[in-house]
Amino acid sequence: MIVLLFGPPGSGKGTQAAFISQKFGIPSISTGEVLRGEVKAGTELGKAAAAIMAAGGLVGDDLINPMVANRLAQPDCAGGFLLDGFPRTLPQAEFLTALLAERRLEQPIAIHIDVPSSAIVSRITARRSCPVCGKIYNVISQPPKVEGICDLDGAALITRADDTEETVTQRLMAYEKNTGPVIAYYEKQGAHRVDGNRPPAQIQADIERLLSPATVR
Ligand code: AP5
Repeated sequence: MIVLLFGPPGSGKGTQAAFISQKFGIPSISTGEVLRGEVKAGTELGKAAAAIMAAGGLVGDDLINPMVANRLAQPDCAGGFLLDGFPRTLPQAEFLTALLAERRLEQPIAIHIDVPSSAIVSRITARRSCPVCGKIYNVISQPPKVEGICDLDGAALITRADDTEETVTQRLMAYEKNTGPVIAYYEKQGAHRVDGNRPPAQIQADIERLLSPATVR
């Protein structure tokens, strides 16, 4: 199974990706997470991406496409995978279509988690995440049991560098301009829209239904 998750910043892609990965036994690949790892490790890619990410822009297709192609060639992707945050531009979508065809992989199932911009800023500024296991929290709606500490491994939770109100506005603009056409591209191929302005468990139930063998086949 190949799943593509779309949605604006803070729509809950990472939250739902963790569920899908666990439920369907496929690796979840977030291009944002991969890039943050590169920034932390101080690689050439990380150095090129850091300022763009901090400003809320999109890292160039010339850097992202080979990064994704390499990641998808790893053995854990042989039985399927989920992409969170890729493709984000039309050239990325066309690149992925060609890559899947070249590698004789199945058609992806595209899911668009639709959330209005008005709900986004408060969600993102309240987000915290675990730097060790990646679990996502929200200090208002999904707080950890102990303030500032991951429930799963006891690590101190962090706030992402790009989770400021100013940067979120830029990220939303980049999303509308670049990713809007990508959603239209996949809608022509039967993408599913899920109302993301509801509690996570309701969204999860819809996604589980969409990905169940009875629906997919
Ligand atoms: P990336 O890391 O992909 O960030 P994003 O797309 O902006 O999405 P987020 O991770 O902010 O949000 P999410 O949808 O995963 O929501 P979450 O589940 O955490 O990308 C970061 C940057 O990397 C980009 O800006 C760009 O520079 C670069 N980049 C990445 N991919 C790229 C690409 N392909 N091309 C070029 N550049 C690229 O939830 C958010 C919060 O809301 C949490 O606190 C959560 O607890 C809460 N929440 C979740 N669901 C709900 C709900 N249903 N109701 C209420 N609260 C909820």
